[in-house]
Amino acid sequence: MSKLSMLLMLIACLVAGMLKMTQSYKEEQWAVSFKRGKQSKTTLKFFFHDTLSGKNPTAIRVAQPLQPYQSSTFFGVMMMTDDPLTVTSDPKSKLVGRAQGFYGSAGQEEIALLMAMSLSFTDGVYNGSTISVLGKNPIMNPVRELPVVAGTGLFRMARGYAIANTRWYDATTGDAIVAYNVTLFH
Ligand SMILES: *[C@@H]1O[C@H](CO)[C@@H](O)[C@H](O)[C@H]1NC(C)=O
Ligand SMILES: *[C@@H]1O[C@H](CO)[C@@H](O)[C@H](O)[C@H]1NC(C)=O
Repeated sequence: MSKLSMLLMLIACLVAGMLKMTQSYKEEQWAVSFKRGKQSKTTLKFFFHDTLSGKNPTAIRVAQPLQPYQSSTFFGVMMMTDDPLTVTSDPKSKLVGRAQGFYGSAGQEEIALLMAMSLSFTDGVYNGSTISVLGKNPIMNPVRELPVVAGTGLFRMARGYAIANTRWYDATTGDAIVAYNVTLFH
């Protein structure tokens, strides 16, 4: 090997090393992270299954107004959830995490939920990491934007937003499948 080609190889290794230091990349089927310097940007895509019906509901009513009260928007009703998050809209597809928390009907004129949820991921490198979603969810709109206010693990100090898009809804039972696209900066 000539001195010149050795020098070129050395330079190539140094450049590759420097690039690696400034940028890294993590990927799962449902999540992609880019890191440049100290800042990471992660995008997540998953499906949220909110099941109120059947023998094993994942969302249960835990509170409602004390007075007999008629509200077409379910104002005052609170639900606790432990909803599975999967890679496709098929409930039997791969489980990547769970949405644990509650939502309450906070609108008198429209069906608007206040969501307060911890999304805990259990798949791949993101196993054990969580994000906190807190905000208004006007579920009758086909597409909603919710704030992501915090995170832990690989998502420590995260902030960002979640775009929620209802894919399927059963008006009789209230069961729903919602696609989530989440963008995080951390
Ligand atoms: C996630 O981590 C927990 C605790 O460390 C472990 O028990 C579990 O098997 C892991 N799950 C996957 C899918 O890797
Ligand atoms: C979510 O992301 C997918 C894939 O990038 C895209 O096709 C879809 O339009 C996005 N959904 C919304 C509601 O933005």
